Amino acid sequence: MGRMFRVIAIDGPASSGKGTVAAFLAKELQYMHVDSGLFYRYFARFYKETCEDTSVVGALAAQLLAQPTAEVVKFFEPVLEFFYQKSDHAHIIPVLKTESCAQVASKISTEPNVRQCVNTAIRSIDKNLVIDGRDTTTVIFPDADVKLFITANVQTRAKRRMWEDETRISHSTLGKNDVPATERSTLQHYVDAIVKRDQQDATRSVAPLICPEDAIVVDTSEMNTSQMCEHVMQIVKVRLNIG
Ligand code: DC
Repeated sequence: MGRMFRVIAIDGPASSGKGTVAAFLAKELQYMHVDSGLFYRYFARFYKETCEDTSVVGALAAQLLAQPTAEVVKFFEPVLEFFYQKSDHAHIIPVLKTESCAQVASKISTEPNVRQCVNTAIRSIDKNLVIDGRDTTTVIFPDADVKLFITANVQTRAKRRMWEDETRISHSTLGKNDVPATERSTLQHYVDAIVKRDQQDATRSVAPLICPEDAIVVDTSEMNTSQMCEHVMQIVKVRLNIG
């Protein structure tokens, strides 16, 4: 039997604007917003002592997969509850959103077992959703009702990420140890980090970031937030035949 809910899947590189667009669409359409990267970030943070060695992380993920599905889903409960908007878990977000956590997440996301754990948790969701990440249009929901590939040039993405981190750090209770000094400094640091992560995400053998032929490509380099959101909203309305 087919799916009983609608899926809008959005892929794209780091800081392309896909998360902002996904959040906007979810709010407008009253769908659930699922940021699939957060599952990898959570996994990375949970096993941060062992993340240097991806094969150890892979083995830990295999142990989790040996448990019943409900246990795998339970492992990600704080992330899932955040998406279900149970605000008591919102405090886990600031530290997961740092670029240093993202680097580790990118690294461990090359482990097939880690990916399987994340996908199991995501597939437990059974309501209308907007999901963004790297493989949501290709692996998680290849049958999505709308598939989008959001991109932007490296300079633009680095500026966005730097600004996001500065805002987040100044508005949160993150300690100095959570955010390395370099991460609070130069634009070049962000350019380098984004180039490195693009390369890791696009060249890995498992679920690399690729744009499927049937996705609609949107380049947001020259768009501000509201232009980008409105542009994508129009595309979605046509695709879903609404409003
Ligand atoms: O979207 P993000 O920046 O929060 O993702 C962090 C890392 O997690 C990203 O560099 C690669 C990995 N990731 C992935 O492999 N597949 C996804 N669907 C989402 C994220």
